[in-house]
Amino acid sequence: MSQDREINRRALLSGACALLALTGLGTIPASASNGVRKLRNGRLSVKLKSVPELSKVGGSVGIGDIKGDPVAITRTGKKSYVAFSLSCPHQKVTVSQEGNGWVCDAHGSEFEADGSLVLGPATKRLARVPIRISRGVAKVG
Ligand code: FES
Repeated sequence: MSQDREINRRALLSGACALLALTGLGTIPASASNGVRKLRNGRLSVKLKSVPELSKVGGSVGIGDIKGDPVAITRTGKKSYVAFSLSCPHQKVTVSQEGNGWVCDAHGSEFEADGSLVLGPATKRLARVPIRISRGVAKVG
């Protein structure tokens, strides 16, 4: 491979990484877009029936950032939901959704769909975020 071609490949890759970082696409692989709205106070409003991932108990999805912290919602019962941070409690790397749970690629911590700790090195669950539900709309944060 010529030197010019190698430089162009590097520039393309670094540009793509910068774009992912700017758009947040590189941080939360699974994310709800329909029914999620950012409120003026920085919290998130989620119209629960508009998020397909939450149609069944055990469903879980990233909903966006609150003050720079990525957040997810999981449906834990017919009418119950929990919200939690997607920042790994070990060293604050953003976890990824994998199967029916969350995994930290940095050092391998694993979490249940509701953020409960399965495997360390993290020593505690993904931090809960306040959630209030009224008339099918969740206010998170
Ligand atoms: S930062 Fe997540 S396991 Fe270390």
